[in-house]
Amino acid sequence: MLPSKLPEVGTTIFSQMSALAATHQALNLSQGFPDFPAPEALRQALAKHALEGHNQYAPMAGLPELRDAIARQLARHRNISCNPDTEITVLPGATEAIYCAITACVMPGDEVILLDPCYDSYRPAVLLAGGHPVHVPLSAGDFTPDWGRIEAAISARTTLLVINSPHNPTGAVLTHEDLTILSALVVKHGLLVVSDEVYEYLVYDNHRHHSALQFEALRAATFAVFSFGKTYGVTGWKTGYCVAPPALTAELRKIHQYVCFVAVTPVQQALTDFMAAEPDYPLTLAALYQHKRDLFNSALAHSRFQLRPSAGSYFQLLDYSDISTAADTQLCTQWTREFGVASIPVSVFHQQPPTQNLLRFCFAKRDNVLEQAAEQLCRI
Ligand SMILES: Cc1ncc(COP(=O)(O)O)c(C=O)c1O
Repeated sequence: MLPSKLPEVGTTIFSQMSALAATHQALNLSQGFPDFPAPEALRQALAKHALEGHNQYAPMAGLPELRDAIARQLARHRNISCNPDTEITVLPGATEAIYCAITACVMPGDEVILLDPCYDSYRPAVLLAGGHPVHVPLSAGDFTPDWGRIEAAISARTTLLVINSPHNPTGAVLTHEDLTILSALVVKHGLLVVSDEVYEYLVYDNHRHHSALQFEALRAATFAVFSFGKTYGVTGWKTGYCVAPPALTAELRKIHQYVCFVAVTPVQQALTDFMAAEPDYPLTLAALYQHKRDLFNSALAHSRFQLRPSAGSYFQLLDYSDISTAADTQLCTQWTREFGVASIPVSVFHQQPPTQNLLRFCFAKRDNVLEQAAEQLCRI
């Protein structure tokens, strides 16, 4: 029998719930992907480049023209300047970027601080590198980081802290003050940071996205990770990028070249074309998704769920405390079967059982799907 390197890990809940939704022909609000098409020009560009024969390996760090486009976008939208040759790497998805960044930083025995609830790929990456994940809970209720508690969890073995804003699964967004405090902690304790910013453009109401790259001291210690899949609605294209100082980028690339080596060539070309033609497309997303969030939430106004509008990402949490005391894992399966709407139990994002009764719903869906899902949820 082969001993498992990840004995606690099974098939991810996202695959399980999408399969269950398909089996029961339920509306799938579980996995985080849009059910409506990406911009036609982007899809046409991919077809064009594949047909024209651009189907061989790209340069290891990513197509230079795409890295230039990323640098222009960071300057245009965030006022961040960076060197596309030494600081930007294009990888097959944010997931690989996170994996390579964690692998580059963590030596056997190192401790890594993860803030619970957290995205499910962080912990396995730490474990595979021989590190010890130290899980610190976000505050119950509003999911803000308790910086005092986080600092208390830092030891002489702590090398890395992972942050995620806008946050999956809670939709919480880190403030300017949060990142200022984090900058000071990073300098004081000599830490590295992975900043998962894949939902950077999906921020609502009066909230703003603050990138770790906008804080000088933090930037010097940070691998910032982004996803074209999330920003351009093409999660199946699995393409993302990492921005980090040259020394960190050099180590990240050493790992990337033996994990996947390159991202897909015609996808990179299509993204380059689209970014040149529609440089402000990402700025249209907040209004699109805020409309979807509001449509879903207002259709749930008379349900028995409690909700607090999500500040960012395309996830909305629903609190079912007034309906049931059963486990979220049980209810999300049961309600997929009985009420035809699939969601994700928030407990899977926690190491310790959570104190709240929450399910996560993805609102990156067509309006009629959101209305139908809300109507079915109102029957619970
Ligand atoms: C917080 C977070 N990070 C990373 C990813 C992975 O992004 P990609 O599909 O580009 O690998 C996701 C996808 O759901 C996510 O929610």
